[in-house]
Parts: sequence; C-alpha cells; structure tokens
Amino acid sequence: MQLFLDTASVAEIRTMWEVGILDGVTTNPSLVAKEGRKFDDVLREVCGLGVPSVSAEVVATDTDGMLTEGRRLREIHRSIYVKVPMTAAGLKATKVLAQEGTRVNMTLVFSANQALLAAKVGAAYVSPFIGRLDDQGQDGMGLIRDIVQIYRNYSYPTKVLVASVRHPIHVLDAAKAGADIATMPFAVMEKLVQHPLTDLGLARFLKDWEKVPKG
Ligand code: G3P
Repeated sequence: MQLFLDTASVAEIRTMWEVGILDGVTTNPSLVAKEGRKFDDVLREVCGLGVPSVSAEVVATDTDGMLTEGRRLREIHRSIYVKVPMTAAGLKATKVLAQEGTRVNMTLVFSANQALLAAKVGAAYVSPFIGRLDDQGQDGMGLIRDIVQIYRNYSYPTKVLVASVRHPIHVLDAAKAGADIATMPFAVMEKLVQHPLTDLGLARFLKDWEKVPKG
C-alpha cells in the first residue's frame, strides 16, 4: 500500500521524503490555508523534491471553472493530480479531464455509489473520507471494504485512496482491506515508525554494548 502525507507543509513532506517512506502528497484548501503561502509556490517546491504524486484541489464549483483550474494546475508539474469534488459538475469535469490525460483525484466521497461513479468517469483516485464518517457514527472502514470489492468486481483501474485518516489503526485496517493508498497527517505517519519497545530495546542493547571489551 502506498503511503501519502495529507499536508501542505513542505517541512513535513521533506522529512518523510528523506526517510524514504513517502509515496505522495494530498492537499486541500484548508491545509493550504494553514501554511499562509501561495498555493503554486508550495506545489512547485513539493514537486521539486521528486514526490511522484501531488494532489492539488480546484475550488471552482461549476464544470467550466473546474476545467480551467484543472488544466492550469496540471501544467505546473507532471506529478500533479487534480483534485475535484464529488458533485455532478465534478463528475462532468473529471470525465473531460481524464479524456485529456489528466489524472483526477475525486474527493469528498462518502458513499460506495459515489465511488462507483468516480470510477465510471475515469478518475485515477477516489478519496473516501473515513474519519469524517466515523465522526458521524458511520463505519468509515466498511465503506473502504465496499469500494475495494466493487472495483475488483468490475476491474476498475481507479485507485482507492483512504483519506481523513486519524490514527494508525486506520492505516492498518486500510492495508488489510486492500486499499491502494492511505493519506495521513504527519503525526500519524510518525506513529507508524515508532514503538516504545523498539526504543527500550535499543537503549538496552546500547547499555549492554558498553560492557563488551573493546580494542
Ligand atoms: O485531505 C482530505 C482529508 O484527508 C481531510 O481529512 O481530517 O480534515 O477529515 P480531515
């Protein structure tokens, strides 16, 4: 399963890119607003690191506006995936963009039927928001299992990108469900690396090593 960071912080992205476990980045208007930087500057910097998949979201709500923004965003760098919301206008824009060869990430997906539609119009990724479903008392991971099964039934090439991930169990369950990608905040990715028994074990090994005769 590919691991993406859900952030517009170049510092966070650089850190995980250098560790070597990062496959891509997703951004959204809220994450970009938090950074207080120009969107294009952030995108160019992240793509410049060599990150092969960087999702950049359109903010237009009509099809023509989405097409104009999507065409502009994809010209910024070959690693850009254009993020389009799951609306009727978004489906229409995705179909055109996909036919033009643009890779589209359909976002704000909350049902399996919406995911089916994203696949039908040729989206490269579908982004179901599981944390926000869990927050509503609905089964976010159940949605991922349904989408994975539907895409397998019909051999749709659209990749399932699990979004709105809140903790490491979400990542584990996404991998068990056969999702293609999980995108997560920096703090969650850090937790994938760490384990208290690893730290304790390493400290013990180093302490015992002091007792080994040297030279
Ligand atoms: O980027 C889309 C999604 O991952 C947002 O997550 O935590 O705002 O629900 P969250």
